[in-house]
Amino acid sequence: MPEVLPRRDLVYSRAMPSRRSASFAQRYGPVALIAGASEGIGAAFARELAQAGLHLILVARRSAILEELAEELRTACRVTVRTLACDLEDPAAAGAIVEACRGQEVGLLVYNAAFSSVGRFLDTPVAAHLRALHVNARGPVLLAHALGGPMASRGRGGIVLMSSLTAFQGTPLVASYGATKAFNLVLAEGLWGELKERGVDVLACCAGATLTPGYERATPRRVPSRFAPAPQDPAEVAREALAALGRRPLIVTGRGNRVVSFVMRRLFSRRLAVATIGREMRKRYD
Ligand SMILES: NC(=O)c1ccc[n+]([C@@H]2O[C@H](COP(=O)([O-])OP(=O)(O)OC[C@H]3O[C@@H](n4cnc5c(N)ncnc54)[C@H](OP(=O)(O)O)[C@@H]3O)[C@@H](O)[C@H]2O)c1
Repeated sequence: MPEVLPRRDLVYSRAMPSRRSASFAQRYGPVALIAGASEGIGAAFARELAQAGLHLILVARRSAILEELAEELRTACRVTVRTLACDLEDPAAAGAIVEACRGQEVGLLVYNAAFSSVGRFLDTPVAAHLRALHVNARGPVLLAHALGGPMASRGRGGIVLMSSLTAFQGTPLVASYGATKAFNLVLAEGLWGELKERGVDVLACCAGATLTPGYERATPRRVPSRFAPAPQDPAEVAREALAALGRRPLIVTGRGNRVVSFVMRRLFSRRLAVATIGREMRKRYD
């Protein structure tokens, strides 16, 4: 498998400018919780936030890889990093996370974890569709509700929900995953409209293909196409999202993705958009 994560020296070489970093930490610190932090875009968020001086609570299922990242960040950024190994599919996970946050001022929630199973809807066990609903949709509702309340009471904070280009139209072969990503987008926009008057910024981050271990595992076939811009680096996605937080309700990361999403949303009928994305998906996964 090719090396997909950026090297550490590159990861730490383009920090947030220090003025923005200080005001960012005041606005969204002192502690950020990242749900789905062990690798890929979640780990990139962790590196960016640690570099901005935020203390972290990192959540994912694999404790060893989570702890390795935590140790890297403690050493490189001198911040406090706690880890919590739990499965966000489990209805009890939100309670365990809230318990782990007790006594900490969590000023930023990044809900990054997602489950996706690629395949025809009817050939995929219904349990997999439900798993996507639980991890990708129920999870963000539970954590945004539990952690957003204290943020609103303090009059400051931020919530980032990871969405995807699949949020903009139905996507064959990932129909239920795409529907959960639409849920993330619409939930974030609604919360943006509700919570900004209480000082809490909310952002939906719609990424396109991003070179994460999860993407590498799920996408054995790469097919160049004008509807599929080159995959982004996870660090770029995290940086673009954090730069957009507090400025708008939605970011589509990557210039190529913004062009494609403009064409699909504004120039194509929904019928044409679904047919086009369906063709692209079948070339890669069917
Ligand atoms: N990569 C892309 O091309 C792409 C494109 C568009 C949107 N996105 C979105 O970006 C986000 C991150 O993508 P990614 O490719 O970095 O994801 P990923 O490789 O699937 O990993 C996501 C992270 O979430 C954790 N996670 C997954 N399921 C979990 C569960 N049930 N409980 C707790 N933690 C869980 C994983 O760690 P453990 O395995 O250790 O639990 C990992 O740290 C997702 O929301 C995805 O929908 C990604």
